[in-house]
Amino acid sequence: MQAGQTLAEYLQSQRHVMPEQDAKALEALLLKVAHACIRLTWLVRRGELAGVLGAAGQENVQGEEQKKLDIIANEVFIGSIETSGLLAGFASEEMDNHYPIREDLTRGQYLLTFDPLDGSSNIDVNGSTGTIFSITRHGGSDAPVDADFLQAGTEQVCAGYCLYSSASMLVLTLGDGVVGFTLDDERNGFVLTHPNMKVPAQTSEFAINAAYSGYWQPPVKRYISECVAGSDGPLGKSYNMRWAGSMVGDIHRILCRGGVFLYPLDERMIKAGKDGKLRLLYEANPMGMLIEQAGGKAHTGLVPIMDIAPDSLHQRVPVIMGSAEEVDLIVSYHLN
Ligand code: AHG
Ligand code: MN
Ligand code: MN
Repeated sequence: MQAGQTLAEYLQSQRHVMPEQDAKALEALLLKVAHACIRLTWLVRRGELAGVLGAAGQENVQGEEQKKLDIIANEVFIGSIETSGLLAGFASEEMDNHYPIREDLTRGQYLLTFDPLDGSSNIDVNGSTGTIFSITRHGGSDAPVDADFLQAGTEQVCAGYCLYSSASMLVLTLGDGVVGFTLDDERNGFVLTHPNMKVPAQTSEFAINAAYSGYWQPPVKRYISECVAGSDGPLGKSYNMRWAGSMVGDIHRILCRGGVFLYPLDERMIKAGKDGKLRLLYEANPMGMLIEQAGGKAHTGLVPIMDIAPDSLHQRVPVIMGSAEEVDLIVSYHLN
C-alpha cells in the first residue's frame, strides 16, 4: 500500500486480507459504494443550487424528521448498487424494513447496511455530513429477511464512511487497519492519502452534546466534570471540547488526532423507553470497527459495542468510543 494509489489499486493490493472467493466481489462492491459517495458529494456541494436543502415533510420509522437529502442519499445508494449483482439486500436508517434485491436481478453474497446521510441537521448550514456503511455476508442464496441483517459488529467484513466536508474523504477498514482516501476532483476518484490511520491511546479532547448534561447518568457526569476541572482536577490535565453535530465529523477527527466521543444513555431516553440515540447496525458498529482497527475502543459503558447480538434493525445503543485509555477510564466509572 502506498500514498497516491487509487482506490481500485489499493483494493487489488489488499486481496490477501480478503478470502480468495470474495476478493473480486468485495472490490467491485466497494468501488460501487465509492461511486455512490462521489455522486452524493456533488449533490451536497451544489446544495441550494441542486434544490436538495430543507425538510422532506415526512418522518422516518424512528419518528425523526427526514431532510430531502436523507431520502435522496438513500435513493442514490440503492440506485447505484442494486443492479450490480453484488448484494443480496440493503438496510438503512431511512427504510422501515430491509430492501431485498429484486427477483429479476442477480443476487450477490453481501448485505449493505447504511446511514445514507449522517448529521443531516448540518445540511442546511453547510456543515459536515457523511455516509456510514457496514458490509456483512449473506449465507445461502435465498432472499434475505430482516433477521439476516442482525449480525454482531464482530461479523462485519468491511466498514467505512464518506465524510462530506471541505474535502470528501472515504475511510475504510477490511479488518486489517484503517485507510483514508481523498476525492480528487481532477481524476473524479478517491486517492489514498492516509495510509495508516491510528487513534492514540491517550487524549485530552472529548466530544459530547453538553446541552443534555442535566439528564446524564452519574458515570458520565463524573467524567465530564473531571475533564472540565482541568489540570487542578483529579485527571490532572486540561481538556479541549469539540462537537461536530455529525458522528462522521467527530469520528473522523478522532481517527486523525485522537479523542473520545460520547452519546450516552440519559434519563430523558430512559423515560422515553429508548436505549440510546445512535443506531447499532449503521452507526455504532461500523464506527466501532473503524475505531478498534485504528487501535481505539468502542463501548456502551457496560459491554463492547461490537459484541452486542442485535435484536432489531433500528436498535439504539449508548456510545463511548475513541482513545483506548480514555474509554477504559469512562468504563471504569460505569463499573464502580
Ligand atoms: P442522523 O443525522 O443520521 O440522524 O444522525 C445524527 C446523529 C449523529 O450524527 C450526531 O452525532 C448526533 O445525531 C447529533 O445529535 P444531537 O443533535 O442530539 O447532538
Ligand atoms: Mn446518523
Ligand atoms: Mn442519517
